[in-house]
This record gives sequence, structure tokens and C-alpha cells, in this order.
Amino acid sequence: MSFIPPDEISRNLIDCIQSGLIETDQDSTIIFYDFDLLLSKTKALISAFPENTLHTIAIKANPLVKILEKIKSLGLGVEAASEGELFLAEKIGFHPSQTVFDSPAKTRNELLYAISSNINVNADSFMELERIAELKEKINSSSRIGLRINPQIGYGTIAATSVAGDYSKFGVPIKEFRTEIIESFKTYNWLSGIHIHIGSQGCSMQMLLSGFEESLKLIKEIQEQSGRNVEFIDIGGGLPTSYHHNQSPPDIIEYGAKIQELIQKYKLEHLQLITEFGRYLHANSGYTISKVEYVKHYKESNTLIIHAGADLFLRECLNPGQWYHEFTLLDLNGEIKSGSKSIKYHIAGPLCFAGDIVARDIELPKADEGDYVVIHDTGAYTFGMWSKYVSRMFPKVIMKTGKTFEIIRNREKPKDMYFFWSSY
Ligand SMILES: Cc1ncc(COP(=O)(O)O)c(C=O)c1O
Repeated sequence: MSFIPPDEISRNLIDCIQSGLIETDQDSTIIFYDFDLLLSKTKALISAFPENTLHTIAIKANPLVKILEKIKSLGLGVEAASEGELFLAEKIGFHPSQTVFDSPAKTRNELLYAISSNINVNADSFMELERIAELKEKINSSSRIGLRINPQIGYGTIAATSVAGDYSKFGVPIKEFRTEIIESFKTYNWLSGIHIHIGSQGCSMQMLLSGFEESLKLIKEIQEQSGRNVEFIDIGGGLPTSYHHNQSPPDIIEYGAKIQELIQKYKLEHLQLITEFGRYLHANSGYTISKVEYVKHYKESNTLIIHAGADLFLRECLNPGQWYHEFTLLDLNGEIKSGSKSIKYHIAGPLCFAGDIVARDIELPKADEGDYVVIHDTGAYTFGMWSKYVSRMFPKVIMKTGKTFEIIRNREKPKDMYFFWSSY
């Protein structure tokens, strides 16, 4: 199973209402996360790549502590992209050798912390390599250092998440700086890997593979010209997920096999692989259920006002047309609503701006106040982008493992909001 089907979601909601885990008068939005789906995706991920691959999971895709703890218990590592994410990784107990620090804006202090803690670092630029060189002279560290390159293989279908076109704010572009990249490997004997990330959603498997192949060609040249072996290649994340339940997403097993074929083609079998997937593991494992507060019927349009908008679905609201979810309507008891007549609805959030619309013209059975809208496949890059605009409170999160439900994050309370805006 690669999606959580609507009938299972309906049963889950009914169970949680009946057991009192969901308080219907308080929980206007609930986020669910299915551990079993995470587990089966993890197993597929591990079997798709060679045994010595370091799989790190992008914290930004889903930073919930209880889920990161599960990720640790499955033997995976993490990719951290900020001081806050490094802190989460350390607090949860990820071993430094299983933590990769990526960010285009690492401060000197952050680098000092990572290198003295033996955390692996991918430098985003030559300037950052210089900062690392200064630290490496003073500190005895086992951090492995890679250089992020931009293989410049083109843009995917979503501009905002495509990072390997001719221009990107990330990495060193290989067309202009091939010689300098090779020189860096000659200069810094501690520089031992190459990092790439092509994009997140919107980039086909073929694009990801073509970025990987360009990187292998570069590694060949580095090795020939420097006389040193490059030890690892970090392939980033980016395997797209399908948000359409009638379509199959690219297969991780096929992706892993093609990566290994390319490694053999270039006779680079000694390279260790590092991965940084986020969306692949999380997107389909989560879903959001939000109560219909009002149903507006105006002449030309019908709008459902629910309790999740751009605070939870930033990309969907700000880049309409580029991000897609399926929707299911449940009645106030949690049963799937049906009816021969379907109506087109705009699904609107609770925030005070016109663009706070999660989706437009979604066909659903006739909706009533108190129904629930299920927004499918929201386990990645939704609550990780939570916005405090209009001081809305973060919803309750429930994890399902087997047949057991557990609250893994409580609904925020007004006092939490006060604390956020007042603490210093
Ligand atoms: C450097 C890096 N690695 C990994 C990821 C995870 O990508 P995805 O969730 O698409 O697998 C991202 C996402 O933007 C990223 O920027």
C-alpha cells in the first residue's frame, strides 16, 4: 500500500472520536501520521541501495520529534539544514557520523559546532570551504566534508523547488567552475565527497539520474587529476511522490538499481552513497482532517471554510496549481459522505488574506457545517512550514502504529501562543 485509503482514514477518525483522543469541540484540525507506511517505505529504501549506504532523512520535510525518534530507531540518520535542526538531531541522539549538515548559510559558529562535534558537512561554496579549512587547522575532527556542486542539468516542473538549472542559489556550478572544483580536491586533502540535490518534487527520475551521471563524470576527472579517491557521493533527496491516487510514483527500487548501474559504468564501486530523502518517506504517510465551520453558497461559487489554510499549506496556497492533494468529505461522525450529486467547492482556510485557499473547484458530495474535509498525503512539507500568521494554534498530531493511536504532539493552547510572541 502506498497511500492511506479514505475508508481507513474514516475508521481512524471514528475510533479516535469514540475513544476521546479527539475532542470534537476543540480539535478543529487533526494531523494523522501512519508509522506502518513509514516502516514499509524505509524497508524499501534500505533494500534499494548498497548495504554501506548512509541514509539520512531531511528533517525539514517532517521535524516532529516523535517521528524523528522513530527514524532513529529504524537505524536511519538525518540531514540537518539549520542550527535548530542540528539541535533536534543532537537532542534525539543521532550519532554525529549519521548526521549531515547542509545549508547555504552556515555561520562560522555553526561550522565550529558541527566540526568539533564530528558531524558531516557539505560545503555549499568555495568560501565555505575556506572557513572549514581554518577550522580544520585548529580542530582534530572526524567530520567528513563534501562539496555541493550544481550539475546544471536543467529545471523541473516546479521552479521554486528546482535547484539544478543553469542558475541556482545552491552549490558550485560545474559548467563555470569545473577546474576550480578539481583544484579544491588537490588543495584540501580532507575534502572527500561530492554532494548534489537536483530538486524536490517536479524532477523526474531521469533528471535525477542525469545529475548523478554528471557528478560521476566530474568525480572521475577529480580522481584522475588529483591522484586521490573521492570517498562518497551524497545524492540528496528529490525522488518525487504521487499525490494522485490513480498514478504510481517512481519506484525507489528501480532508482537504486539505476544509480548502481551508473556507478558500475564509471567503475566507481568504491564510492559510498549517502541519501537525503524526505518527501519519499513522509508525504503519503500523513493526512490532515479539518472541520467544516461554514459552507458558503454564493451565486457563482461554493466555499468550505475549514481550519487549515496557508498556515499548514503554505505552498498550496501561495503557488496554486503547482501543488496537488486529493480530498475526501466525511460527515460529523467520521463516515464517508456520498451522494449522487457532487458540487464544486473552493476549500478555504481561516487566515485573513484572499490567497488562503488550499484548492479550488474540488468536486465533493454536498457538504454541511460540522463535516470533516480530509486532505490526503500531507506528511511532508506541510506542518514543517507551519506559519504563525494570525496566531492560529498548531493542531494535535496523532500517530497510528498497527491498531494503536497515540498523540505525538498536543494541540497548542492560547498560552503557547502568548509565550511564542512574548518570550525573549
Ligand atoms: C539539500 C536537500 N537534501 C534533501 C532534501 C529533501 O528532498 P525531498 O524531500 O524531495 O526528498 C532537500 C529538500 O529541499 C534538500 O534541499
